[in-house]
Amino acid sequence: MDWGMKNRISKIIRPEDGRTVMLAIDHGYFLGPTEKLENPGKIIKPLLPYADSLMLTRGILRTSLNPSVNIPIVLRVSGGSSVIGENLSNECLTTSVEDALKLNVSCVALSIFVGSKYEHRTLKNLAKLVDECERFGIPTLAVTAVGKEMTRDYRYLALSCRIAAELGAHLVKTYYCENFHKVVEGCPVPIVVAGGKKFPQPEDALRLAYEAIEHGAAGVDMGRNIWQSDFPVAMIKAIRSIVHGNSTVKEASEIFMQEKETFQAA
Ligand code: 5RP
Repeated sequence: MDWGMKNRISKIIRPEDGRTVMLAIDHGYFLGPTEKLENPGKIIKPLLPYADSLMLTRGILRTSLNPSVNIPIVLRVSGGSSVIGENLSNECLTTSVEDALKLNVSCVALSIFVGSKYEHRTLKNLAKLVDECERFGIPTLAVTAVGKEMTRDYRYLALSCRIAAELGAHLVKTYYCENFHKVVEGCPVPIVVAGGKKFPQPEDALRLAYEAIEHGAAGVDMGRNIWQSDFPVAMIKAIRSIVHGNSTVKEASEIFMQEKETFQAA
């Protein structure tokens, strides 16, 4: 692996502990103006000091983030379908590697849809992206997207993660599930977990992060459970304490409550 590639990966996964808190705000690429992410620049501003990297599309990067900001960028470069279209899995590469380089990104991300109608296409997207990005030392994060018809169990997620790694992904993002350690065991590259839909209680999102880390995840790439929270800064601080501070769910919940009270008192 060349120096540039290693350097970029070290910006995503912190070398001190091999872990990461990625903040995902790429949802609009197929969901449109998702609740609480209508104005991405505003919602993420107070969260940036607590995120190790930011995952988003080039459109939101250009319009919502000041170029002087000092946060590694994970650029989503796949898309082409919407939540109201007929085939959500029918994705292509939407951004060139040249543009990714111009945007000075630390990593590119795309979705693969294993088991879907467009499985082959999305896996070809991954292989092509890895080939192109290897030339410039840019790591690729593969997101194992799950179609509505798929079961998020460890057999399916282990299959998807392993295929992503076999095709050359440097990092994989997937979902937490029962027997998650088996997903991790079968995947030779670091795995980060998505949060999924917002849980009714913050403790549930904290437990997901805790259990994922306990079972071998390198961190989280979390969105809705942070920025849809009524107390997003409290939430990201609590998540961070689990990922980088080895907090238990109870300790992280206490951090959340303290931060919430500080916010309410201000
Ligand atoms: C969508 C994505 C999102 O970034 C991912 O789902 C993470 O966000 P959340 O924690 O809200 O699930 O990759 O395809």
